[in-house]
Amino acid sequence: MGGFHCPLGAMAPGTEGCIHCGLCTAGTREAYAKAAEKLRAYIRENVPRPRRVEKIAVCGKGGVGKSTVTAAFARAFSSLGYRVLVLDTDESNPTLARALGLPPCESMLKRPDSRFEPAESPSWLREDLDISDIPADYLSAAGNLMLVTAGKLEDPFAGCACSIGALAQLLMLNLELQEGEVVIADTEAGVESFGRGVERGADTVIAVAEPSLDSLEVAEKVKYMAEGLGISRFRTILNKVPDEETAELLTEYLEGKDIRYLGWLGQEKEVVRHGLAGTPLDKTEDAYLKLENMLKLFLDENEMDYPL
Ligand SMILES: Nc1ncnc2c1ncn2[C@@H]1O[C@H](COP(=O)(O)OP(=O)(O)O)[C@@H](O)[C@H]1O
Ligand code: SF4
Ligand SMILES: [Mg+2]
Repeated sequence: MGGFHCPLGAMAPGTEGCIHCGLCTAGTREAYAKAAEKLRAYIRENVPRPRRVEKIAVCGKGGVGKSTVTAAFARAFSSLGYRVLVLDTDESNPTLARALGLPPCESMLKRPDSRFEPAESPSWLREDLDISDIPADYLSAAGNLMLVTAGKLEDPFAGCACSIGALAQLLMLNLELQEGEVVIADTEAGVESFGRGVERGADTVIAVAEPSLDSLEVAEKVKYMAEGLGISRFRTILNKVPDEETAELLTEYLEGKDIRYLGWLGQEKEVVRHGLAGTPLDKTEDAYLKLENMLKLFLDENEMDYPL
């Protein structure tokens, strides 16, 4: 069945669990859309409802595509009618605001400091926090899409990234979301700080991996650590995959490790082009549509409604 993972877990078309939706064999965009619709309808009717998806942490090795995936997922959530808060916890990279098409915002933490204690956090950052309680100064927003930045290290001697992680974690834990609201956090690279950052407040972890053993092993460790935090909803997205054959190799690897994945994205020219221009993906471009489709399948699998 090529490099495509059957969302229902069937090994191949016609085998146990297959509902003959045609997703894995679709050759055109129209056929793909029709098959995806059939599959979504089936999932909506048949998969038991787990706890709703509210707080997602996007993890993985540096440079694998975390910010690219976070931005596309956030924009797709927003198009589906969700109120979306994107939490930028990357202490050095300015990519995320650009990929979202939003102006950069003022960091919550002005001077990152290793001595930062949660007790010193600002008074508005209390328990049962509503998204609307976040001061407007810290938000960059367009419609129902919002960005908040934990902190940035502007120069090599500026401070310590641990304080940024601690503040981001507090925000993630304290937010009390309403129906139709989601938070999606773009996390620090690697696994060194996993469990000390925003992941603690997440109900879903998505690891992005590229075709390298290093990044697959990071994804595997992230899964192991997420399970340790009691987060059972773990998915992987394979990114920058050169061809179907490599996708197949990678998905076999993940299946062998019992790691669930949402899909794969190739080495996409438009992602490179927008990355260089500092602009968001166009919503009609293939890379965006593939990521949007992964999100829809994921939401259907978890019986999440589309507010619009
Ligand atoms: N599917 C893709 N195809 C081509 N380039 C990509 C793809 N995904 C990401 N990139 C590029 O790789 C670089 C790192 O991506 P980014 O999302 O910033 O990774 P991370 O947040 O994990 O560090 C960026 O220049 C981005 O444009
Ligand atoms: S046809 Fe659909 S259900 Fe059957 S294996 Fe392919 S993706 Fe899975
Ligand atoms: Mg990034």
